[in-house]
Amino acid sequence: MKIGVIMGGISSEREISLRTGQEMINHLDRSRYEVVPIVIEQRADLIAQVQQAGIDIALLALHGQYGEDGTVQGALETLGIPYTGSGVLASSLCMNKQLSKMLLKAAGVHTPAGLCWQGMDDYDSQMVKRLGYPVIVKPNTGGSSIGIQLVQNEKELLPAVQEACSLDQAILIEPYIKGTELTCSIVDGEVLPIIGIRSAHSEWFDYKAKYEAGGAEEKVIQLPPVIEQRVRKAALASYRLLQCKVYARVDMILCQDMPYVLEVNTLPGMTTNSLLPKSAAAAGITFTQLLDRIITSSLH
Ligand code: DAL
Ligand code: MG
Repeated sequence: MKIGVIMGGISSEREISLRTGQEMINHLDRSRYEVVPIVIEQRADLIAQVQQAGIDIALLALHGQYGEDGTVQGALETLGIPYTGSGVLASSLCMNKQLSKMLLKAAGVHTPAGLCWQGMDDYDSQMVKRLGYPVIVKPNTGGSSIGIQLVQNEKELLPAVQEACSLDQAILIEPYIKGTELTCSIVDGEVLPIIGIRSAHSEWFDYKAKYEAGGAEEKVIQLPPVIEQRVRKAALASYRLLQCKVYARVDMILCQDMPYVLEVNTLPGMTTNSLLPKSAAAAGITFTQLLDRIITSSLH
């Protein structure tokens, strides 16, 4: 079977995507698959490159806009080329934190309450004051924590909002929840061991903590059974509600025994530092087996 590993792209997560793609290429089982790397430099490249490669399935190693957000999935649907992971709707919903959080909330899944602004015109420091400092300011469709800022007081608010608005049309402002960051990887409806994260140098899991060696301690966390069940249930409920397929990673904060879902990643990172492969390894699933499962399940 001929597999096209699609990576690169034009989002702010391009570098991470190249690392995910390379890691996938290194671990694909060559006795089963012929592997074609497809590096996207600009949006218009995708269709021509994919058609020219004549692949049986696209293994998506893209992250962020024009890759993880349903656009590439839609193009591949139109071409009739199978691809790995979630479909168009789940991909676009999960990329939009404002909308996915509204759905989660409506379904009774806990997620940090917050403000959804559609740009600088919505700026209102009084509303943030009512929410209470510190707050986290996030671009609505960002990934890998790019552009996310912890704001301690009103003086820091305006520059943080300006920065986030320069990266995205819409932003979120959420109260900073002090707790344990957790992540739940799901493959084929199976929740893999839950990983707890402790950032080494910052108060939250920022870009450096995510991708620099030693940036964070990430290990399988032992929770009391009732709490573990609560975390697994919240992860699966989010995955199902947002129509995810094949695999995803649900990021949360556990505060006073309650998991708050921050977001669902439909194409989670698969770099050497990434969480989903670590979680799979803890379940006895090698990277190569993980890719096999993702490919096989995406073809059904
Ligand atoms: N957005 C990055 C790649 C992740 O969720 O792992
Ligand atoms: Mg993300």
